[in-house]
Amino acid sequence: MNFQLTEEQLAVRDAAREFAQTELLPGVIERDSEARFPKEQVKKMGELGFMGMMVDPKYKGGGMDAISYVIAMEELSKIDASASVAMSVNNSLVCWGLEKYGTDAQKEKYLTRLAGGEVLGAFCLSEPEAGSDATSQRTIAEKKESHYLINGVKNWITNGSSASIYLVFAQTDAQKAHKGISVFIVEKDSEGFVVGRKEDKLGIRGSDTHSLIFNDVKVPVENRIGDEGFGFTFAMETLNGGRIGIASQALGIAAGAYELALAYSKERKTFGKPISQHQAIQFKLADMATQIEAARLLVYKAAWLKDQGEDYTQAAAMAKVYASEVAMNVTIEAIQVHGGYGYVKEYHVERLMRDAKITQIYEGTSEIQRIVIARGILR
Ligand code: CAA
Ligand code: FAD
Repeated sequence: MNFQLTEEQLAVRDAAREFAQTELLPGVIERDSEARFPKEQVKKMGELGFMGMMVDPKYKGGGMDAISYVIAMEELSKIDASASVAMSVNNSLVCWGLEKYGTDAQKEKYLTRLAGGEVLGAFCLSEPEAGSDATSQRTIAEKKESHYLINGVKNWITNGSSASIYLVFAQTDAQKAHKGISVFIVEKDSEGFVVGRKEDKLGIRGSDTHSLIFNDVKVPVENRIGDEGFGFTFAMETLNGGRIGIASQALGIAAGAYELALAYSKERKTFGKPISQHQAIQFKLADMATQIEAARLLVYKAAWLKDQGEDYTQAAAMAKVYASEVAMNVTIEAIQVHGGYGYVKEYHVERLMRDAKITQIYEGTSEIQRIVIARGILR
């Protein structure tokens, strides 16, 4: 067993850390307050190769391993989880499935632009009445001669207004329940495609979460990925990898809050000494550091299994459920270490706590992760 990162992985960490400090940190509080998407920053992330890190270089990707990807996600999430979720969706939920299951023509037309950071992608599975219960899709794709007509509504879509390319799940045969779900590539300028309401959220406020409305949206048959009925398997397989991305986001949020709390504890003096000299604060720091290390090991293990080509379904669910709980615990404790200063925006930790909460909800709630883990154990 080797816990040493490679030269390349260390270089990715340094590059991501520097980018987060120089490009994401300035303005992060304002973007959160104004619920403003980090457009310029995400564009630069694309130019630096963060948007298609694991994609084959022949499709303008970085050709890197999943460990490098989670390292970069952790570093960017320490500072701006709204930017990192755009990255996670593009890498894990859009590029991965397109590369694995897309046709050569689909990859040529869409993957190169997505992986090269020219355009952003979105993953459209959830609906008003199909969140955890993702098989209950109401969106319909009706087959005509050379195209499908898509009708329905998607909810909560990350990169909803910023994306140009959308992977959309829809029923092509409702009689077959989840085996009748298919997945399509939809372009933003398609007639009948409407970007709906923007959600006003607790956290990741810079991320643009929208509902999407499909009114007779015409999609060519060649934009279906895989066979009819393959959509649900595609979604679940994609989400297994996506959950590693969100686990690394949660890890980064926790690590970012811990680093701030540690630094603050050495500066702030009460009763004649730095608060880091009070044992109550030391124990908090010790618990935070231990939980973060345990979360990091789970995240790396899941990424490593993916790199080895082994099954990572359960490992990804464990990493996500644990890291997201650590993110909540650590961010709450980081506020406590900051006292009253932790409760105001200037010190960043209150934002990290608000951002942490979403990691227990999206890409499968903590309850759903436990279902996935339990099914694996009991199989
Ligand atoms: N990996 C591979 N296949 C899986 C799977 C997994 N993790 N989970 C389920 N499947 C397969 C099952 O094996 C089954 O296949 P067969 O029919 O071929 O046997 C099929 O999917 C249906 O599974 P179930 O019978 O278990 O279906 P279910 O309805 O009881 O439960 C579920 C399925 C696990 C709860 C699933 O619906 C689920 O994961 N829900 C959560 C949805 C989710 O994560 N949404 C995220 C949206 S994207 C997002 O959130 C992005 C973002 O925020 C940034
Ligand atoms: P519900 O499924 O209604 O769940 C409500 C509660 O019941 C939860 O606590 C849940 O864990 C619990 N529950 C449900 N079923 C069970 C069960 N069987 N056993 C035990 N407990 C259960 N979706 C996309 O497709 N693409 C995106 O890009 C995307 N981005 C998102 C961004 C944000 C900011 C948010 C808030 C959501 C996003 N989602 C996205 C949707 C997200 O994946 C869903 O919100 C999530 O899967 C939960 O679904 P739901 O909100 O309908 O909750």
